[in-house]
Amino acid sequence: VIELVVVGARGRLGSLVVAEAEKRPADFKIKAKLGRGDALDFAGASAVIDVSNASATASIALACAKAGVPLVVGTTGLVQAAVAALDDAARSIAVLHAANFSVSAHVAAKLVGEAATRLRAYDVEVVEAHHRLKKDAPSGTALMLANAARDARQSGELKRGRDGASPRVAGEIGVSAIRGGDVVGEHTVYFLGDGERIEIVHRVTDRAVFARGALAAAAYLVGKKPGRYAMADVISA
Ligand SMILES: NC(=O)c1ccc[n+]([C@@H]2O[C@H](COP(=O)([O-])OP(=O)(O)OC[C@H]3O[C@@H](n4cnc5c(N)ncnc54)[C@H](OP(=O)(O)O)[C@@H]3O)[C@@H](O)[C@H]2O)c1
Repeated sequence: VIELVVVGARGRLGSLVVAEAEKRPADFKIKAKLGRGDALDFAGASAVIDVSNASATASIALACAKAGVPLVVGTTGLVQAAVAALDDAARSIAVLHAANFSVSAHVAAKLVGEAATRLRAYDVEVVEAHHRLKKDAPSGTALMLANAARDARQSGELKRGRDGASPRVAGEIGVSAIRGGDVVGEHTVYFLGDGERIEIVHRVTDRAVFARGALAAAAYLVGKKPGRYAMADVISA
């Protein structure tokens, strides 16, 4: 049985991670549910799942490394210092960061890469929609999809939002966000040509999809060598 500590356990996603884990007592046991202000005591856990806030990532990474416990981070909007803390921790523990725990979002990213290379002359724009309470913009998934196009083409600057005079620069990859209502997460990647276009759309209607992905990631990390891992590893395992 995998003994989990969930950080951000009272949040929208964290509470579902707990609920999904509790549906599978043969596989998972919730060792601790932590939130804002709680001590980061991870000793004896099999894995930590952090779905709290980017401001907490660096200290969680440090505490996991000290305790020798693998870490799954689903928090988005990480600043450079947090990414560096994950890299540091990954020297002694297994670390997986995913802006999107949904398996099919990563399949969508593969399709985006394919379309980006086959339709080199097409303009790429990513538009995402999330609920009114989401803190960061654009979403981590929007950046993942934009980077999938960029990496496939090995060129293209990301252009975040458009306001005022901002004509399209050849090759740039636009990223825009809208916020409202209870939208769990929708991403559309447009490949805009002359007289036609392709739209690759990924819609999540049930946040439990993310919770199950987080549990799959935690199960995958247990017993793995120190280093950085991604959802792509979990999917292909
Ligand atoms: N990877 C994915 O698939 C995926 C999917 C959805 C969301 N996310 C990301 O997951 C994160 C949480 O999203 P959410 O919608 O669940 O947000 P949320 O409902 O606001 O939940 C965040 C939780 O974290 C707690 N928290 C905040 N700061 C903390 C800190 N410094 N230390 C410990 N706990 C802290 C909050 O406690 P309080 O209530 O006391 O503030 C809250 O319970 C966001 O970054 C979001 O973008 C990722």
